[in-house]
Amino acid sequence: MNIRKARLEDVKSIVMLENKVFKQSLGPDFLVQELTDNPFAYYVVGEMNRHIIAYLGLRIVTPDAEMMNVAVDPEHQRQGHGSKLLEYALDFVMRQGVKHITLEVRKSNAAAQAFYIKHGFERSHIRKHYYESEDAVVLSKEI
Ligand SMILES: CC(C)(COP(=O)(O)OP(=O)(O)OC[C@H]1O[C@@H](n2cnc3c(N)ncnc32)[C@H](O)[C@@H]1OP(=O)(O)O)[C@@H](O)C(=O)NCCC(=O)NCCS
Repeated sequence: MNIRKARLEDVKSIVMLENKVFKQSLGPDFLVQELTDNPFAYYVVGEMNRHIIAYLGLRIVTPDAEMMNVAVDPEHQRQGHGSKLLEYALDFVMRQGVKHITLEVRKSNAAAQAFYIKHGFERSHIRKHYYESEDAVVLSKEI
């Protein structure tokens, strides 16, 4: 998998990937705005044979960063691609001077929690009703 910064022309593929993985998407308008207008946004994609199979988005306000989303195509999950993408992004934010990164994940999403914990994140607290009907677990990592 080749990792590179996301470009405007990737938005359609990212929306398709999100719909496949989450059955919903941040939406093309939101993503276009992130990629064109938001100086704090950092989005990367993972390509295989010129096809986007993974993406990761975060926002950096040094010394803090907040993960927006990570998704790997279900056909390519559990093959180390998510880890590769996360390590790439963590290395980037560290070089930007980020010291502390946080994210929210659905309480029911045990796979994602295991994924982040494997990468050194720790459970911080619960955010009640963060997803309307579901609580979020807040995870954080010092880097
Ligand atoms: C979470 C996600 C990004 C992980 O990407 P991935 O490429 O599948 O993960 P990796 O192969 O790099 O796995 C690394 C570790 O994460 C953990 N992990 C990943 N998927 C897991 C699963 N389904 N169940 C339990 N642990 C899991 C394991 O500890 C794994 O290490 P191991 O394979 O040596 O046991 C991916 O499964 C995904 O896109 N999930 C759906 C979207 C999502 O939930 N995103 C996060 C919320 S924003």
